[in-house]
Amino acid sequence: MAGTVVLGLQWGDEGKGKVVDYLARTAAAVVRFQGGHNAGHTIIVNGEKIILHLIPSGVLHTDSECLIGNGVVVSPTHLLDEIAMLEAQDIKVRPRLKISLECPLLFNCHRLIDLARERKSAGKAIGTTGRGIGPAYEDKLARRALRLSDLLDEKGFAERLEALFAHHNFALEHYYHTETADFRAELDTVLALRDTLLEMADNVSARLERLRAGGAEVLFEGAQGTMLDNDHGTYPYVTASNTSIGAAVVGAGVPPSHFDRVLGIAKAYTTRVGNGPFPTELDDAAGAHLAERGNEFGATTGRGRRCGWFDAVAVRRAVALNGVNGLCLTKLDVLGGLETLRLCVGYRGYDDAACVYSAQACAAYEPEYEELPGWPGAEVAGATRYTQLPQAARDYVERLETLLGVPVNMISTSPDRSGNIVRDDGIRDDGVI
Ligand code: IMP
Repeated sequence: MAGTVVLGLQWGDEGKGKVVDYLARTAAAVVRFQGGHNAGHTIIVNGEKIILHLIPSGVLHTDSECLIGNGVVVSPTHLLDEIAMLEAQDIKVRPRLKISLECPLLFNCHRLIDLARERKSAGKAIGTTGRGIGPAYEDKLARRALRLSDLLDEKGFAERLEALFAHHNFALEHYYHTETADFRAELDTVLALRDTLLEMADNVSARLERLRAGGAEVLFEGAQGTMLDNDHGTYPYVTASNTSIGAAVVGAGVPPSHFDRVLGIAKAYTTRVGNGPFPTELDDAAGAHLAERGNEFGATTGRGRRCGWFDAVAVRRAVALNGVNGLCLTKLDVLGGLETLRLCVGYRGYDDAACVYSAQACAAYEPEYEELPGWPGAEVAGATRYTQLPQAARDYVERLETLLGVPVNMISTSPDRSGNIVRDDGIRDDGVI
């Protein structure tokens, strides 16, 4: 019996896909509960890269169910493309994928509004993924969204979709002075997918309740990271959903009693894609080293990620906010080759207890660093045992444990599925593997 929530503790791209894929070997189900196809979860198997955006990262384990909870905004066309991509690789998806009937749908008009808005806000753009995620969530809150269940009534769906497109097209034409969205084309496209979509529609909340009652192991897979949370992140430079623990309750439709464990994922350094404050950002050779060795390009947009030192203040905040009780540290190998490492342990004049991570506050923070020796002559890439790590790498990991007050249960040492050190996988009763 176990429910594990996997959450990113930084600005996304912490490597959650790889960790979920690893943990999913024994899980009955993996459920996504927020975000949409802005997420990019990368899994590398035998050198082959698979990037998932909407489909839970348990999909490569054929015994595991893949669930999309009501908190996820679903682009029907993107979803079907992603299924086709996986099925072309002989991964059966449709019989195992269940989508909540309550999922709001994301359409082309949302994408056009997202892009138009970013273009118009020159200098102050959020740097979104341009996929329409924000506008789709806005429609949900405004109570004009169409949900998967609306497809059950084809005529009503067409009427409401037309009204939705009229609403957004007015803004596109008269406010943004740009191209409008083609309602008829979208209606035809979505109706052509209707039967396939409805075959996968389900009551995900009830399904999770049954799994829990049967003692099954379930993984709740977060997308993005805590610092992009719409309430608790560097607002307004955040995503449109909540990315922290509460979203798992609301967006999967389960009570908190389903969670036995919260596993926080953090990179051994920090990256951020898109705009907004980033106190430990580097603009020097060390930053270039992290970008190059870490191959820091967005899995969804291909944009170069901004890189910086590990920010223990931000991660400590995320640990507290989410009730994290175990950590997975990813990309430790990327720090290899650096003579000296720096860890941000505080911000000048800043009180942890009064932490406000708004963009305004965060932009003013000046990091205070602690220096630790690197391990330039040694290699940690591909290590699978803690004892294989050089002493300096172990010191780095253990210093993080002290600063964050949480044990590091797992360390990822290479992009491939096999590059993991598991100190305590934490979700099985028998403990260490
Ligand atoms: P949106 O989610 O497309 O609205 O983008 C809002 C912000 O969140 C931008 O800074 C994006 O770069 C960032 N973002 C959204 N999804 C991800 C992700 O999966 N990884 C990292 N950053 C993301």
